[in-house]
Amino acid sequence: MRTEITLTRPDDFHLHLRDGAMLEGIAPETARDFARAIIMPNLVPPVVTGAQAAAYRKRIMAALPGSNFTPLMTLYLTEASDPADITAAHAAGIIHAVKLYPAGATTNSDSGVRDFDRVRGTLEAMAQAGVPLCVHGEVTDSDIDIFDREAVFIERVLDPIRRAVPGLRVVMEHVTTQEAVEYVQAADAGLAATITTHHLLINRNHILAGGIRPHYYCLPVAKREVHRQALVRAATSGDPRFFLGTDSAPHADDTKESACGCAGCFTATNTMPVLAQVFENAGALDRLEAYVARYGADFYGLPRNTGTLTLTRQDTPVSFPRRIDTGAGPVTVFEPGIAVHWQVTARA
Ligand code: DOR
Ligand code: ZN
Repeated sequence: MRTEITLTRPDDFHLHLRDGAMLEGIAPETARDFARAIIMPNLVPPVVTGAQAAAYRKRIMAALPGSNFTPLMTLYLTEASDPADITAAHAAGIIHAVKLYPAGATTNSDSGVRDFDRVRGTLEAMAQAGVPLCVHGEVTDSDIDIFDREAVFIERVLDPIRRAVPGLRVVMEHVTTQEAVEYVQAADAGLAATITTHHLLINRNHILAGGIRPHYYCLPVAKREVHRQALVRAATSGDPRFFLGTDSAPHADDTKESACGCAGCFTATNTMPVLAQVFENAGALDRLEAYVARYGADFYGLPRNTGTLTLTRQDTPVSFPRRIDTGAGPVTVFEPGIAVHWQVTARA
């Protein structure tokens, strides 16, 4: 059995860093293990223009003094987005992708897209300029069951968009269903998917059986066990179209432990040891490096990182901090619910 593994420094291709005191409190949790991350733009107000992305990038760097972490900025797609601003920000290296939130789908998505025809011109300009589109893949119709919203989105929204704008490079973010895995597997090279750490570990029973567990509630909501298993197979398969995007999404504990709790699992602190355990349990430890440090960089046309991260296996399970104290309140760290024997022992 392997007891030590040294990987190229990983990247997180889907991360929420927030702003202000929360940003200051949680940014070091990602910067410790990761070289770069795709930063979600769902602030209030959202990050819509290149100038706003550049300003947000500065605030992130200011929260990480002395760190060589690289935030890869994104813009929030609205029906009023300016295609020229998007392509200019991309050409200047200020942004690496644009995020599509269907209006009302999740946290701070009110400014998102209602009528997909109204963003067609922007998507065409992005396809032309090679700007990837990151997609929150859920319909928002109140008559569609929340557990079906991802599968219905593929059929009603994603597939029509990809047919209408054929050159568009798309990342289906945080896939949670077998249907999404199969859709990506059947597509050409312009489509990829990120998978979170938590969706590799929890199914819907973890949220609802034996008491309601708000820290396992996120969007898209975890599905049945068969879907979790499909995600583990995809992540550990060595298929370069699936790579890590943690969707680590901090909310102060009082806003999660509430009558109407916020969606999001905070996994930044322990993602790498937890993933090492998931890959070991699947007999795929040798595929972990590509999943966290190669496939995503390749899809985004980024150079691979030069640093390394070493994880060491110990016989007794490792424990992680239960919560991170921030100026915006305590944030509970994702509890993986399995024995994790790995920990990060060196960073270079
Ligand atoms: O669980 C989630 N939390 N899903 C999202 O799509 C957004 C995120 C957040 O920003 O809190
Ligand atoms: Zn997210």
